[in-house]
Amino acid sequence: MSETPGGTYGLVFLGDIMGEPGMAAVRQGIPVILAQEQPLFLVVNAENAAPSGKGLLPAQAEELYALGVDAITLGNHAFDEPAIEPYLNLGKPIIRPANAPMNAPGRGRTSVTKDGITLHLINLCGQVFMKEWEDPFRAALGLVKACDSPHILVDFHAEATSEKIAMGWHLDGQVSLVVGTHTHVATADEQILPGGTAYQTDVGMSGPHGGVIGMDRSAVLAKFTKTSLVRFRVHDGPGMIHGVRVDVDRVTGRAQAIRRLTWST
Ligand SMILES: [Fe+2]
Ligand SMILES: [Fe+2]
Repeated sequence: MSETPGGTYGLVFLGDIMGEPGMAAVRQGIPVILAQEQPLFLVVNAENAAPSGKGLLPAQAEELYALGVDAITLGNHAFDEPAIEPYLNLGKPIIRPANAPMNAPGRGRTSVTKDGITLHLINLCGQVFMKEWEDPFRAALGLVKACDSPHILVDFHAEATSEKIAMGWHLDGQVSLVVGTHTHVATADEQILPGGTAYQTDVGMSGPHGGVIGMDRSAVLAKFTKTSLVRFRVHDGPGMIHGVRVDVDRVTGRAQAIRRLTWST
């Protein structure tokens, strides 16, 4: 499994899993993706996987590991479900943004070793429209320096395309992949940067289609049109998975290919 001609291995990353429709999609879709892609590593962003669509509960995290997920990243919703706080300190392969306030539970970097490859994972939040996070650019350099392997995945969870593109250039040649999350909309700019870092501004959402970035569209429209007081809820629609597959050189840790993945029921 996993080794491809040319001395590379496959890495699959799936975007923000959203509510129960997102969990239902990965329940069905991950076995298919694993069979088709044969990746060495499968990493998912699960910051919205709780039934509320905001945060993650231990039950969903455990189910994701059982499905074959090697590591979980989070984002600005990392701490929305209080029950996840002790779970983040159990030493499991789950990370929240590293540039969180100093007393936040959990950690922002972890690593997973399989088939002789140690993959480091780093989670960072952007600052544009999310001022509460520390400087992700400075944090990134320190975190990368602490990695004892060239195989590094960075999930940059940010709103602005400009901030994410800048992070790609900031880390080009130092990491295997910089992938953006948070907007829930996949971008068409997947590429290998000149230094060998795979990059995509946003990988998109694994969640319900037909809503507004995963939320029920009637509630979101009522908010924008100010027609009624509303409480957001996860959209009840068929699930779809968005992700990315990257081929990484086993020796150098630099990327050789990147391809968008989609899966739907
Ligand atoms: Fe999200
Ligand atoms: Fe987010």
